[in-house]
Amino acid sequence: MATSDDSSTAIGALMAAEVDEQPAVWAEILDNGMSEIAAIAAAIEARQPRFVMLVARGTSDHAALYAKYLVEMLLGLPAGLASPSSVTVYGTRPDLRDVLLVGISQSGGSTDLVTTMAVGRAQGALTLAITNSPGSALDAAAELNLSLHAGTERAVAATKSYTAQLLTLYLLLDRMRGGDGAEARELPALGGEVLGAGLRVRDLAARYRFAQRLVVTGRGLSYPTAREAALKLMETSYVAAQAFSGADLLHGPMAMVDAQIPVLIVLSEGAGGRALAPVVPRLHEAGADVMCVGTSQAVAAATVGIALPAGVPELLSPLVEIIPFQQLALHIAVARGVDPDAPRGLQKVTRTV
Ligand code: F6R
Repeated sequence: MATSDDSSTAIGALMAAEVDEQPAVWAEILDNGMSEIAAIAAAIEARQPRFVMLVARGTSDHAALYAKYLVEMLLGLPAGLASPSSVTVYGTRPDLRDVLLVGISQSGGSTDLVTTMAVGRAQGALTLAITNSPGSALDAAAELNLSLHAGTERAVAATKSYTAQLLTLYLLLDRMRGGDGAEARELPALGGEVLGAGLRVRDLAARYRFAQRLVVTGRGLSYPTAREAALKLMETSYVAAQAFSGADLLHGPMAMVDAQIPVLIVLSEGAGGRALAPVVPRLHEAGADVMCVGTSQAVAAATVGIALPAGVPELLSPLVEIIPFQQLALHIAVARGVDPDAPRGLQKVTRTV
C-alpha cells in the first residue's frame, strides 16, 4: 500500500491504514449501499422539500459543504449550512416546514447536532441522519437514517469516513435527480491510482516539514477539499493552515502571501479549476511556493505538485483530490516526530453543546 509503513506499530499506522482503505470502502458502498440509498431518496422525494439544511461539525461539515454545492447544482434547490448554536445556545426554534434537515456525523454523538436534529424534527423538518455509527443518538433523533458502510474508524483524524460521506451524499443526490451512480463506478480504481503517488507525497512532506503557516485554496467543489486539507494539517501536524475559496483569497487575504508562506492549491478538471487558474500567477507574483494537487497542466504551472488521473468527473473529484492532502498531513506529522494517531487536543467523539 502506498501510504502505510510496513509496520503496523509505526506512528500514524492507524491513519495510514484508513487512508489506504478508502477505495475498498467506496467499492463497498457501490456494491452494497445502493438499495438503502435508493429507499432514502424515494422517502425524501415523497415529501418534496423546498430547501435543504445541513448540520455537521469539523470534517463532516466539509462533507456538508460539498453536499450544499451538489443540492444546488443537481437538484436546483437552495441549500445552506445550519448554525447549531442558534438552536442550542440562543434557543431559537425556526419554522422548518418543507425543509430537509440532514445531519452528517461519523460518530452521531455530538450533543449540539443531536439537539439541532430533534428540534428540527419538532419544528416540521424531514430529518435524515447520515452516520458511521448505526443506532447512534443522532440516528435516534432523526426520522430517516443512512449508514456510511465505512467500517469502524479507529484513527482520531477522520479520513475514510469523510470520503464515505462524500460518496454517499453524491449517490443520494444523484439518485434524486434520476441517476444510477454510473459515473462513480470507476472511483475505486482511480482512488488506487492516486494512492500510488504516496511516496512522492512523502518527499513533498520533507519540503514542508518546517513550515509554520500554510494557506490552502480551492474553488467551487474543491473549496470543501481545501477546508478539509487545512483541518487535517492543523490537527495532525500542528501547522497553522488557513483555507480560502480562491475568490475570497483575492478579496484581501492575498496580502499576507509571500515567500515564507507556502500555498497549497486544489485545481482539478472542470469549471471550478478553470475559475481558480487565474489565481496561480498572482501567487507566483507574490513569491509563494505553490504546491498543486490537480491536473497535470496545473501541476506544471505550480512549483511542485501531485497530478491526479485524467477523466475524473468534476462532481466526484473531491473524493480523489483529498487523498494526497491526507497523506501530506500524515507524513508532515511523522517527519516532525508527532504521532498523527494521537493528536493533542482531539478525541474521536467531539462533544459540544
Ligand atoms: C477531524 C475530526 C473532527 C470531527 C468532528 C465531527 O478529523 O475528527 O473534526 O470530524 O468533531 O465529528 P463527527 O463526525 O463524529 O460528528
